[in-house]
Amino acid sequence: MEKLRVLFVCLGNICRSPLGEAILKQKLNKAGLQIPVEVDSCGTSNYHIGDLADPRTIANAKKNGVAITHRARQIHESDLSTFDLILAMDKNNLKSILELPGASQYKDKIFLIRSFDPTSDGDEVPDPYYGNEKGFQLVFDILDGCGDYFIHYIRDKYTSLPHQ
Ligand code: 4NP
Repeated sequence: MEKLRVLFVCLGNICRSPLGEAILKQKLNKAGLQIPVEVDSCGTSNYHIGDLADPRTIANAKKNGVAITHRARQIHESDLSTFDLILAMDKNNLKSILELPGASQYKDKIFLIRSFDPTSDGDEVPDPYYGNEKGFQLVFDILDGCGDYFIHYIRDKYTSLPHQ
């Protein structure tokens, strides 16, 4: 494999998955992996197609030193073959992905993102949409940790570099 393609998936593609995408891209820029990694995000719903990320997500990310420029798009069944790893934020997202036409043949590359997080006390990245700033910061902290764990995973599985 000469390139690894990673797709984050949430419901609206305006809060969790564009943040996961932006955090991972920033970490990858510093990580110096031997394999190029392409990162994208999308939503299972069509609610916010074309929208920038939620202003609360953008503001929280900025506070934490991360810029988000993504515009929302809905997942398409072609994403299942295009991407090598498809990372769902919660169990509902996972279920929606697995219900896409033809998904059963791709189920080995579809995961909950928190399955890469050994500190996880639950399987999900909680939906912050109807919550407050505390919820947005919790999502940031979870995805920041997941980004680090995920880079360790990529380094172990897809490159020969030692741990840093
Ligand atoms: P996300 O959050 O799935 O993390 O982007 C949500 C965004 C929008 C809605 C729900 C969750 N909504 O119901 O519009």
